[in-house]
Amino acid sequence: MITASNRTQLSRERLWHFSRVHRIDRSRGFRSSVAIAIAMKVIAVVLLCVLINRTAGTKYPECRNPNQRRGLCVSIYLCVPLNSVIAKGELTDSEKQFIFESRCASDQSIPPVICCTADKDYDRTADARLLPDRSICGGDVVHPQILHGTEALLTQYAWIALLEYRPPNGLQLRTDCAGSLINHRYVVTAAHCVSEGTKYRNGDLVSVRLGEHDTRTAVDCQMGVCLPSAVRIPVEQIHIHESYGSRTYWYDIALIRLARDVAYSPAIRPVCLPSTVAVQHWQAGQSFTVAGWGSTETSRRSPVKLSSVLTYVDPNWCVHTYSNSIPLGESHLCASGNGRGDSCEGDSGGPLMAFQEGVWVLGGIVSFGQECGSHYFPGVYSDVIFYDSWIKETMRP
Ligand code: ARG
Repeated sequence: MITASNRTQLSRERLWHFSRVHRIDRSRGFRSSVAIAIAMKVIAVVLLCVLINRTAGTKYPECRNPNQRRGLCVSIYLCVPLNSVIAKGELTDSEKQFIFESRCASDQSIPPVICCTADKDYDRTADARLLPDRSICGGDVVHPQILHGTEALLTQYAWIALLEYRPPNGLQLRTDCAGSLINHRYVVTAAHCVSEGTKYRNGDLVSVRLGEHDTRTAVDCQMGVCLPSAVRIPVEQIHIHESYGSRTYWYDIALIRLARDVAYSPAIRPVCLPSTVAVQHWQAGQSFTVAGWGSTETSRRSPVKLSSVLTYVDPNWCVHTYSNSIPLGESHLCASGNGRGDSCEGDSGGPLMAFQEGVWVLGGIVSFGQECGSHYFPGVYSDVIFYDSWIKETMRP
């Protein structure tokens, strides 16, 4: 394949060939070939200056390519990665489709203006495999009618994962945080669940448990129906948001890559991301459900998966409520059960979900709160709408 760097190499070879030919022919045309070479160099420098000036003076609009990666709208001929695909001649169907879908919105010009990025994932089928569509994600076996703090049904919220840490004494695995499965290979959680500090306190995050409901029993049954035992999958890699730690309680998100693909089952399914159903903002009065095995009024950890229904809190009010202690911003989402339901210690990293267009969407990630179940302080979550593209950009096949 001819890439941009290959091409420079090729032209260098051609130049070398050119000068050799002329060196052999020295006696006849040496002087004229030197003059031509100098003239060509001058023209090249002038062209380069013109191009740099034009580029510096123009503000290209920002865009997203078909893989949702950020880029700039430029003429296809100025986009080296796409140009090198075209230069190789024969295009595959995926590459043609990728270029077609890369055109900047409503652009009809020829040559086309496309969204240029360094992205080389032209295989749209591979990309489609990365995140499940709404026919696969966010499905539930029952309608979402749960009261606050009630036990979830066995196969409800089948994306919730328990994070398992190996404490320094190496005995039993601890489960102090949760996460949400978003495809066969990735679990989203809070950065503070996998940070260095947590590692120091809890030990290394070694595995993720999926398909769990009651942590006391190997086989969970409800109303005469039993599920297969939970699945434990080792962790391959942890990706903490690059800006986590730069501001207290900000960028509290991380991705866990599992060591192998997990098979979906009635008790193990992925949740949808907001962009999968085109959710772009939260409405006043939006209802959310939070679920996990964290502290309850009576015990440090709940042995069964519990859930509570919460309501979206006006962001300005939430910023105001926390203004004496923690600065909040657009990456935060606040939700409250008005003194009845809330997430609490041990629920961190787990999902705050919105039922949208018939599927469950991951709206937030349990991050922090002042007290639990407070009438005044809402729970604070990392807003997944804000991190949707970060998640997609960070995942790999
Ligand atoms: N930081 C807690 C954890 O690590 C979550 C606290 C949530 N608090 C709240 N009031 N909503 O588990």
